[in-house]
Amino acid sequence: MKSKQTQRIGILTAGGDSPGLNAAIRAVGKAAIGTYGYDVLGFKDGFLGLAQNNYTALNKATLGGILTVGGTILGTSRDKPHKMQIDGKVYDMTDEIVANYKKLKLKALVCIGGGGTHKNALRLMKAGLNIITLPKTIDNDVALTDATIGFDTALGIAAEALDRLHSTAHSHHRIIVAEIMGHRAGWLTLGAGIGGGADVVLIPEIPYDIDKAAEAIKRRDRKHANFSIVAVAEGALSKQYAKAFAAATARKKQAKTDEERQMAKAELRQLDAKHSGNTWRLAAELEEKTGLEARVSILGYVQRGGTPSVTDRLLATRLGTECAGLIHQGVFGVMVAARGNSVKPVPIESVAGNLKTIPLEHQWIESARRVGTCLGD
Ligand code: F6P
Repeated sequence: MKSKQTQRIGILTAGGDSPGLNAAIRAVGKAAIGTYGYDVLGFKDGFLGLAQNNYTALNKATLGGILTVGGTILGTSRDKPHKMQIDGKVYDMTDEIVANYKKLKLKALVCIGGGGTHKNALRLMKAGLNIITLPKTIDNDVALTDATIGFDTALGIAAEALDRLHSTAHSHHRIIVAEIMGHRAGWLTLGAGIGGGADVVLIPEIPYDIDKAAEAIKRRDRKHANFSIVAVAEGALSKQYAKAFAAATARKKQAKTDEERQMAKAELRQLDAKHSGNTWRLAAELEEKTGLEARVSILGYVQRGGTPSVTDRLLATRLGTECAGLIHQGVFGVMVAARGNSVKPVPIESVAGNLKTIPLEHQWIESARRVGTCLGD
């Protein structure tokens, strides 16, 4: 009798790392091996490993002991299949990726990532690969899922940082401006700002008026609370900047010729460059407008590092084990999304290119306002 060949899947992690990636790899791997009897390969450093056929076999031993470990045992990168930097040159590696996938006889490829990964996953889907994704990013900005792997851990770290900044701001009667990660979405800043009791919270979704922020700080000062904590997202924009960005983005969308598109893109790049250092400028302006001393604290990569919270481990395990089940059923082209207490496959096509920002009517925004937090508007 002919024995049935063991089925094989691949996993990769791409984009910025986030706590809980290993828990997700473990969940997909353990369920695929233990429940369905598959072989599992882990590609190194995101799509780069897939393009270069650089992988490691995952088994019960290598998947053991990683649930609580931060980062990703597979490594990650921001390499895109169609624009890959190899030895200083950029290559379209889509054909190599398809060839490696076929050569390894993969039944499916699991891509664990955020916004960029979903765009790349869609490209590979269109090139004929069976793709299934899991949402991860500390930014929580992936469309169609309630939560992303890593967000809860980062939220805890950022809120704890704000707690700690309170006592030093209080002792020195200072304004402390804490920069929190998130270029396009303010989930982390607003969540940590509410949980950590920031007095002013500035997020990309609500362009700010510096005078409103300064006034809120002065009001506190008049009430003898002569210190303030300002939580600002990396991507928070002043009203003027937001206007300029919106105009350039509209020009890019409406461009009729390639020249017009290139000009709008160059304009956006210039605005991006001008925006860097915004937190420092904000602190200097607040100092000038309030007469209080201001300091900056950039929370940075600390937010992405270390042990994942139990909530992230649980989320990663729920999504990862469901992912293995869907592969076994032959369901591809989907992201496994968190929906309340349940998990649900949603089309990758509806996720890619769609950012989940905070809706202006979101309850977090209303709650922040009701406890007197200034949102800069
Ligand atoms: O997308 C996650 C994220 O951590 C953002 O919050 C942050 O702006 C960005 O990645 C930093 O990217 P990199 O790791 O490429 O510096």
